[in-house]
Order: sequence, then structure tokens, then C-alpha cells
Amino acid sequence: MSLLHLSFAPVAGNTTRRHRISSSSSSSGDRQALFSRIAPVYDNLNDVFSLGQHRIWKRMAVSWSGAKEGSNVLDLCCGSGDLAFLLCEKVGIHGQVTGLDFSREQLMVASSRQKSRSKACYRNLKWVEGDAVDLPFPDCHFDAITMGYGLRNVIDKYKAMKEVHRVLKPGSKASILDFNKSTDEFRTSFQGLMIDNIIVPVAASYGLSEEYQYLKRSIQEFLTGEELEHLALEAGFSSAKHFEVGGGLMGNLVATR
Ligand SMILES: C[S@@+](CC[C@H](N)C(=O)[O-])C[C@H]1O[C@@H](n2cnc3c(N)ncnc32)[C@H](O)[C@@H]1O
Repeated sequence: MSLLHLSFAPVAGNTTRRHRISSSSSSSGDRQALFSRIAPVYDNLNDVFSLGQHRIWKRMAVSWSGAKEGSNVLDLCCGSGDLAFLLCEKVGIHGQVTGLDFSREQLMVASSRQKSRSKACYRNLKWVEGDAVDLPFPDCHFDAITMGYGLRNVIDKYKAMKEVHRVLKPGSKASILDFNKSTDEFRTSFQGLMIDNIIVPVAASYGLSEEYQYLKRSIQEFLTGEELEHLALEAGFSSAKHFEVGGGLMGNLVATR
């Protein structure tokens, strides 16, 4: 498969608008550049930092999305494609998977990983360069949506949730996995210690310490599980439930349209 699988939809407005719940100390363009810089080492670092556990959490996220054989599904902020590949296995050869991200470099990694996979289920997978706050898809288009470690990085989280709601079919689910902004002091301190003493020093050996220092700030500025549930309801979802995973270090929001 070639880069024909990358449909370069225009990246709609690197918006700097902010929803009252979201806050940010960097622009959407800064974040896009950050994810492009880390693209070559992103997968390796994920395995190192989570001791491979992120694979389990991603499988859980796919399972919570309700995607099934033959579904037409979207993986938002797909990065190098982990969740999109898992979705392919779920929906099979009669399904359709779209991975969307605003970092062309991440999509290039995703596309080259796709080329190295021979199973038929990975053929109905396409990559779209686009912005989560302005999705290039019609209303009521998808049977399920996943987003792994993406929403935390989107500046206008409300607008992104409105878009997820718009492109989902009624009754379908969005499954949104991310770091959990815990209200428990012990967990928050543990998370902070891990980032400061393991993640940032290891990332520094790849010349990426600044990029990974951003992680701690982004979790502090993220929403708690309860706030995420409110955000989903405010965006129009009929129900929303946040589950803690990985001992409460991660969380998964399941929102039903
Ligand atoms: C931490 S990575 C997660 C990648 C992948 N989902 C995973 O779980 O491994 C976050 C991704 O979100 C993308 N991203 C952040 N904000 C975005 C936006 N507004 N629109 C599209 N992609 C965005 C970044 O480019 C990056 O690839």
C-alpha cells in the first residue's frame, strides 16, 4: 500500500479558540509540531514507559467502543495507528476504518506500519490528515469512534466532543482513553514522580525532554473523569461514563450518542 492511503484533507484552522473548560499554555500549532517531532520514537517510548501495558488499555478502549464485524469506525488523533489497527481486527474485512490525525509525520509512520501488515483486515484502513475540531465527515457517519491519548491534547475539547457527537450514528459510542486526572492525591503524586523521574529522563536521552515535560502539564490541565462525563453530556451525548484503568493512572470515557 502506498501513500495513496493518506488522503490529505486540509487541516482545518489550527484553532486557538478555547472552551471555558479547557485551558492551554501552547497553541494547536505548537502541539502539532511537538507530535511531529516525537513521531519517529513515539511507539518505542510508549512501550518503555508503560511496560507494554498501553496495548492492554487500547484493547479495552476498542472493546468499549462497541465496534463490531462490518462496522464503519473512526480512530481520532490516531498517531501511529495502534487503535486503528486494533479496530481493523475487530471490524474485519467487511468493515471500514479511518484514522485521523493532524500530524503528517505520525500518519507517515502509521502508513508504513500498515504496509508491513499482510492480513486482509488491514486493507480497509485509510489515513486522513485533519483536525479533530473540524472533522471532514458527514453527520451520522460512524458506528463507533475511538480516541487514544488525543482529547487531552486538543485545545478546544468541547468542540472536539461536539464533532465526535455529530459524526457518530445515533445510539453509537465514543470510547476515549487517556491519562486519568485523578482527584486522589496519592495517585497524582505517583503520576508526577513517574513523569519527572522516569519519563522525562528517558525522553531526554532521545533529545526530547521538553516534549515530555509537556505531558505533566497536559495532565494537570486535563479534566477529571467527572468533568469529562459533564463535557460529553454538554456536547449532546445521551449518556457518559468514565472508567479508571491501569490502577487509576489511566481513564476511559464511554459516551453514547
Ligand atoms: C499522544 S498521541 C496518541 C496517538 C495514538 N492515538 C496512541 O494512542 O498511541 C496524540 C495524537 O493526537 C494528535 N492530535 C492532537 N491534537 C489533534 C487535533 N486537534 N486534531 C488531530 N490530531 C490531533 C497528535 O498529532 C498525536 O498524534
